[in-house]
Amino acid sequence: MTTEPIPIRTDLVFRPPSEHNNGAAASPKNAAVYSSRHKHTRSSYSDSSPLTAVSRNNSLSFRPLKRSMPSPDKTIAVINAGGRQAASLIRIATAVGYKVRAQLRNLVGVIATEVSSNPNVEVFVGDLYLRKKPNDNQDVSANTHNPDILVNHELISQLFSGAQLAFINTTFYGNEIQIGEAVADVAKRVGVQHFVYSSMPDHAAYNPEWASLPLWAAKHKVEDYIRNIGLPATFVYTGIYNNNFTSLLYPLFCMELQPDGSFEWRAPFHPDAKLPWLDAEHDVGPAILQLFKEGPKKWNGKRIALAYEYLTPLEACKAFERGVGRPVRYEQGPIEVRVKVPEGYREQLEALEKLFSPTNRDPRKQPPYFGDQTLEDSCPEGALALWEGPRGLEEYAREIFPLEEEANGMTWMFDDGEGVPYEGATGPSTIPEAGNGEDDDDESVDEGLVMRGLKRDEEEWLA
Ligand SMILES: NC(=O)c1ccc[n+]([C@@H]2O[C@H](COP(=O)([O-])OP(=O)(O)OC[C@H]3O[C@@H](n4cnc5c(N)ncnc54)[C@H](OP(=O)(O)O)[C@@H]3O)[C@@H](O)[C@H]2O)c1
Repeated sequence: MTTEPIPIRTDLVFRPPSEHNNGAAASPKNAAVYSSRHKHTRSSYSDSSPLTAVSRNNSLSFRPLKRSMPSPDKTIAVINAGGRQAASLIRIATAVGYKVRAQLRNLVGVIATEVSSNPNVEVFVGDLYLRKKPNDNQDVSANTHNPDILVNHELISQLFSGAQLAFINTTFYGNEIQIGEAVADVAKRVGVQHFVYSSMPDHAAYNPEWASLPLWAAKHKVEDYIRNIGLPATFVYTGIYNNNFTSLLYPLFCMELQPDGSFEWRAPFHPDAKLPWLDAEHDVGPAILQLFKEGPKKWNGKRIALAYEYLTPLEACKAFERGVGRPVRYEQGPIEVRVKVPEGYREQLEALEKLFSPTNRDPRKQPPYFGDQTLEDSCPEGALALWEGPRGLEEYAREIFPLEEEANGMTWMFDDGEGVPYEGATGPSTIPEAGNGEDDDDESVDEGLVMRGLKRDEEEWLA
């Protein structure tokens, strides 16, 4: 390829006003002064470019070819990279040039394929925990410490080699506290500059009358540990995901399709008590990226509520109704567990029903979702200060919910919506039954993760 000299149209060169020459062409000296005052301080043009002497901010000037975007030259370590939170960060961070070292359990599925085929991602395949006994298929999600499960220290060490940043979202599989502590230790050892941990509260730590939610209390312990070892860290608390909702008969966020084509959501939350909401896939990534950009100087030790909407269940149902275009009713009531769920999640649901009592008639008595009232009061402004373009519940219900439902085998979105029973609609009764699906694999059955939609896989329990 030959390089042609760039034709400079001197007649269109912007001439900065000068006190001395009254608009005459800028001398190299005063042009340099002008360029250092240029209002676009974050221009993608190099300072060494011969073009810095002319304005890039004038539609009359020529527009030279841009060079490719410079990379931030930072590497982020991420675990559970196929999860909604982590995948959201990976998408956005790699799009602006960050490198990612990502742990995935395997390379199966849409997200694992997306992550592993991303040229800015180096994938480390393996579980974060190891089973002491080979061929042991016991459920590893229970909240109590399981001595048959070890932490995969080797994988975690490999993951962090060369990483300056980390986004860590632990899950209840395989002794969450030990995994969280091991990850923090390695991050400290390799000198990670900013560690963002996706935490949740232990409600009992804020008020002894409140029940601890076991899965969240584990995260609270990991948060304490991270603080104690002095890692430069920030703690994000994620609101209720918009896409927890499904018409599959999953407990707690079942948006149950009714015979007349409307939906009903039943949960223990008071209908008029506010709850924090978040579209995890859309809006976790941009907020975490902003935290990395602003760094530990601003954010070390801080807690941030990642929730872009703060809505009561009644308001949430109204937003959902506007989006999905069908009536959506809320009913306060006990959590119905109509399918087998992992042990750890069953314990969580029981505690959640104690904490957010379905018989509470006073919205002021409902504990703050994030435990800490100050954190709760920062919703949604705290999150919006990090990222201004979130996807709200209404938009989710309009644009994404029907697609996810269709991918799960539902057909209600193709019905005429005239209020008649939806003939032929695939409602919850036709969900693949426990262990009956032809493609059930041994692992999911043995771990009690038997409810499987076509798109959503077993992990979608994790509210
Ligand atoms: N849903 C909510 O509203 C909500 C709100 C606040 C906090 N959280 C917390 O967020 C965490 C979940 O994160 P997420 O939503 O990003 O994840 P997610 O989308 O629910 O994905 C689940 C993650 O767990 C992994 N996983 C699934 N089965 C596993 C097994 N048997 N052994 C080991 N790992 C397994 C998955 O790995 P693969 O991709 O390899 O399958 C994936 O990384 C949970 O701790 C939950 O408590 C959720």
